[in-house]
Amino acid sequence: MKRFRTRAVHVGSHPDPTTGAHVSPVYRTSTFSYGNFERGRRMFAGEEPGYVYSRIGNPTVRVFEEKVASLEGAEDAVAFASGMAAISAVAFTFLHPGDELVFLGPLYGGTEGLFFEVLTRFGVEVRDASGLPPAEWLSAKTRLLYVETPTNPTLRINDLALVGRLGRERGVLTVADNTFATPYLTRPLEHGVDLVLHSATKYLGGHGDTLGGVVAGPAEAMAELRAHGLRHVGGALGPEDAFLLMRGVKTLPLRMEAHCNGAEAVAAFLEQHPAVARVYYPGLPSHPDHELAARQMDRYGGMVALELTGGERAAQRFLDGLELFTQAVSLGDVESLATHPASTTHELLPAEVLERQGITPGLVRLSVGIEDPRDLIEDIEQALAPME
Ligand SMILES: Cc1ncc(COP(=O)(O)O)c(C=O)c1O
Repeated sequence: MKRFRTRAVHVGSHPDPTTGAHVSPVYRTSTFSYGNFERGRRMFAGEEPGYVYSRIGNPTVRVFEEKVASLEGAEDAVAFASGMAAISAVAFTFLHPGDELVFLGPLYGGTEGLFFEVLTRFGVEVRDASGLPPAEWLSAKTRLLYVETPTNPTLRINDLALVGRLGRERGVLTVADNTFATPYLTRPLEHGVDLVLHSATKYLGGHGDTLGGVVAGPAEAMAELRAHGLRHVGGALGPEDAFLLMRGVKTLPLRMEAHCNGAEAVAAFLEQHPAVARVYYPGLPSHPDHELAARQMDRYGGMVALELTGGERAAQRFLDGLELFTQAVSLGDVESLATHPASTTHELLPAEVLERQGITPGLVRLSVGIEDPRDLIEDIEQALAPME
């Protein structure tokens, strides 16, 4: 098998069979001719492979799916219109009324919203097991164990090998959201987790210009996911978006190295700055999960969070003083982004949850882009200057 960087470029990409186009073209079509009655019958019966309708499969989307499957070390992958479409497709495919869904978070807010506000209406019981000892994670009713790592915004690390082992022992489907790490830094299936998924909107696309989602895992589970979660729920990825995502994946290894270089430099700078009370970066020995991160991740990613000694007022002055970092939610773009979780992404959470998760008024989250780290540090330094 070829190495990661080579696979990111080549897997799934073939010269177009009709024109020889070197780069996989955008197949902008909703339906596909099957030519004659007998071929149509055979294709719909699953006796002959091929494309029939773009909600179920499309050649441009397929290039992206094959790349992600290869990079995650999975047999197959299914793409969706967004990360949330991917997560809801997993839930609608694999859960039934009476099943318990257990998660280790904190999770992305939209995911918790889907779990608590939508799935519970369909008879699924949802339980947050974060902070409990592993022996108490699963119950007799648990059907799915869902985990995010690193988590948002304080970048805690969940132990994927432990999750995979418990899932296997208890016959529970395990699912990891690998959006923050990407397969370049962590491959959950190697640790025994069953399914891995992404908001491809973030690092896989990498340029902040498209939405997408993807799930990878064993062929049988992916066939079920395509048949139900994609075909019947319908959150299909469009071919234009798939084109941008497959192009993004080609440079994922290069971008991730640059994101990691930048984040490491920014975290080290922040850690010695007097206006900064605390820095959250899994690559720092001061991070509570540093040892686990070192075992599970190849490097530590592009996300950094910092807590300012001056609380919300300092956070506001710092954010408004940044010039290279754009104040915006989302992450994983080539451009650096900065956000204040307590007043934006986590604004709806009750005070005790914010406190438990370390989301203080002085906490700022940085998505470190691929700019020259020296320019990013100079920008941070000038924005922190009024607080010294
Ligand atoms: C970790 C994580 N998972 C899932 C999602 C949802 O993805 P999307 O916005 O592509 O629907 C996000 C979005 O911010 C996220 O950060």
